[in-house]
Amino acid sequence: PKRGDIAVRLLDWYDGSARALPWRVLPGSAKRGDPYRIWLSEIMLQQTTVAAVIPYFGKFTARWPDVVALAEADEGEVMAAWAGLGYYARARNLIACARRVRDEHGGVFPDSEAALRNLPGIGDYTAAAIAAIAFDRPATVVDANVERVVARLFAIRETLPQGKRAIRAAAASITPERRPGDFAQAMMDLGSRICTPRNPDCPTCPLAEHCAGHRLGIAAALPAKPAR
Ligand code: ADE
Repeated sequence: PKRGDIAVRLLDWYDGSARALPWRVLPGSAKRGDPYRIWLSEIMLQQTTVAAVIPYFGKFTARWPDVVALAEADEGEVMAAWAGLGYYARARNLIACARRVRDEHGGVFPDSEAALRNLPGIGDYTAAAIAAIAFDRPATVVDANVERVVARLFAIRETLPQGKRAIRAAAASITPERRPGDFAQAMMDLGSRICTPRNPDCPTCPLAEHCAGHRLGIAAALPAKPAR
């Protein structure tokens, strides 16, 4: 199977099965994602589940509808609104980042991975996610879900963390020029709903016939746990 087929198959599946999430623009919509909402969701999702993030995301965007509003917010009020999400350094970086976007970028999020990575609280993963999802840049977006999907698709047997290089290269090799943001989100949805850690549901997977791990009967065992 050609590598380009993987993106086509996955995007076809996403077109029919994308989760409706409050920060997401569903496929087929003429709207563009709002970089502020995508940034906010990615920061909240760094150490927190989708289900836990949803009410906080609603509360934040109602109270502070854009990045300048958040930059002008009372710090104590933001910290209080964050209470319960945990990892409070994220909230302090959130405020710092909003102020930098206001002061150094005219209140507009930069659209390149490199510029995004320079902002407080935005590391490699988050910069790639925002570049792809908000700006349709063909960035390679690799979180733990995507690592698992890619390790299985390519039957990468190296244990983590050594396997990360090979996984990232394989992920880059299937990232399409067209719809990279939808592709990234489709990989996340596949990892959370079908290509799950313990019991992957290969019979319903849109990529099963392209999956080396499935063909070899080792998908559920990947990525391999380091010997201990
Ligand atoms: N986890 C992190 N970012 C996500 C996104 N954009 N959609 C679903 N799950 C995610």
